[in-house]
Amino acid sequence: MLNQLETLAKTAQAELSQLSTSDALNAWNSKYIGRKGEITQMLRRVGELSKEERPIFGQRANELKRDLESGYEEKIAAIKIAEMEQAMQASALDVTLPGRPISRGRLHPSTQTLRRIYQIWADMGFQIYRSRDVETDEMNFQLLNFPPHHPAREMQDTFYTTNPDVLLRTHTSPGQIRVMRQYYPEPIRVILPGMCYRHEQITARSEIQFHQVEGLAVGHNIRFSDLKGTLINFTNRLYGQGRPTRFRTSHFPFTEPSAEMDVECFLCDGKGCRICKYSGWLEILGCGMVHPNVLRNGGYDPDKFSGFAFGMGPERITMLRHGIEDIRYFWGNDLRFLEQF
Ligand code: DAH
Repeated sequence: MLNQLETLAKTAQAELSQLSTSDALNAWNSKYIGRKGEITQMLRRVGELSKEERPIFGQRANELKRDLESGYEEKIAAIKIAEMEQAMQASALDVTLPGRPISRGRLHPSTQTLRRIYQIWADMGFQIYRSRDVETDEMNFQLLNFPPHHPAREMQDTFYTTNPDVLLRTHTSPGQIRVMRQYYPEPIRVILPGMCYRHEQITARSEIQFHQVEGLAVGHNIRFSDLKGTLINFTNRLYGQGRPTRFRTSHFPFTEPSAEMDVECFLCDGKGCRICKYSGWLEILGCGMVHPNVLRNGGYDPDKFSGFAFGMGPERITMLRHGIEDIRYFWGNDLRFLEQF
C-alpha cells in the first residue's frame, strides 16, 4: 500500500506541475488532497495494515500529503498573482491622460427667445399666465367670436380629439377668456405663452406645433394709443432703441380694430433683402383692441372696460434673428442645429 501511495503521490506531483489556472488547480485539489481526494482516502485505510506497518505508513503518508499541500499552496499563490496581473493589463487605465470634456446641454433656441420675451414683459409689469394646451371648441373659437362654420376658422386647421368639442388649441388666445374669468373685476396685464397646434402640411414655413406669446391688458380707459405705445416700447427693448415700426390694418375676429405690427428689417436696415422679401419690413405680431363680445364673454362689461391684445410667434422671431430658413429645424432635434445656439 505504501508503494501504491508513493506512485499516486508522484502522479499527483507530475500533474500539479502542468497546471496553470486556478480552476484546474482547484479540481486537482479535490481529486487528490481534498476531503474525498484519493490520497486522503488512502490515508484513511491505515487501519487495514499490521501494527508494525502502521507508523511507517502513517509517517510517510503524512509527509507526502504535506509535500503535495505545500506544492499546491505555492502554485496557487503564483497563479493568483499571474491572473491578477493579467486582469490589470486588460483593464489598463492611464491615469495621466487628460479627461474627456463632458459636452454640456444648452437651452433650445425657442426657449432662449421665450425667456428674453418674458424678461421684457416682466420688466413692463406683465405677469405670466399659463393656460391649457387642450381646449374646448367654445374657448378656442366661439367665445373669441368665431361661430361654428365661420370662414375665419379655416385659417386655423384644427386637431380635434375624439370628442369634437375638445381640441388642441390653435392659438393662445383662448387663454384671454380664462384670465378674464379668473381676474374679474381686477385690471389685467398678462402674457400667455405656450405651444399651439395646427393640422397643417409641414413645410419650411409651417409646422404643426409652434409657440405663441399672447398678451392681454384690460382696464378702464385703455386705448389704441396704449396698445401702440406698449408694443413700440417692447420692440425697442427687443430690437434696440429707435428701430422704426409701423402698424398695418388687419382683421382678427376677437379684436376691433385689428392691426399687424412691422419692425424695420434689422438685417438690411430697411434697404431690402431676401429675409424681408425686399420690403424693408418684418411682420412681427398681430394685435388689436379686445372686441366688446370677447370682453363680455370674459365677464367684463365693454361699456366700463376696454383692453388690447397681441400675439407673437417666438419661432418666427428666432428665425428672423438668426436667419434660420426652415421652421422644421426647431423640432427636428438635430444636434448640429441645436448646438449652434
Ligand atoms: N391668435 C392669432 C393667431 O393665432 C394671433 C393674434 C392676433 C393674437 C391678434 C391676438 C391679437 O391677441 O390681438 O393668428
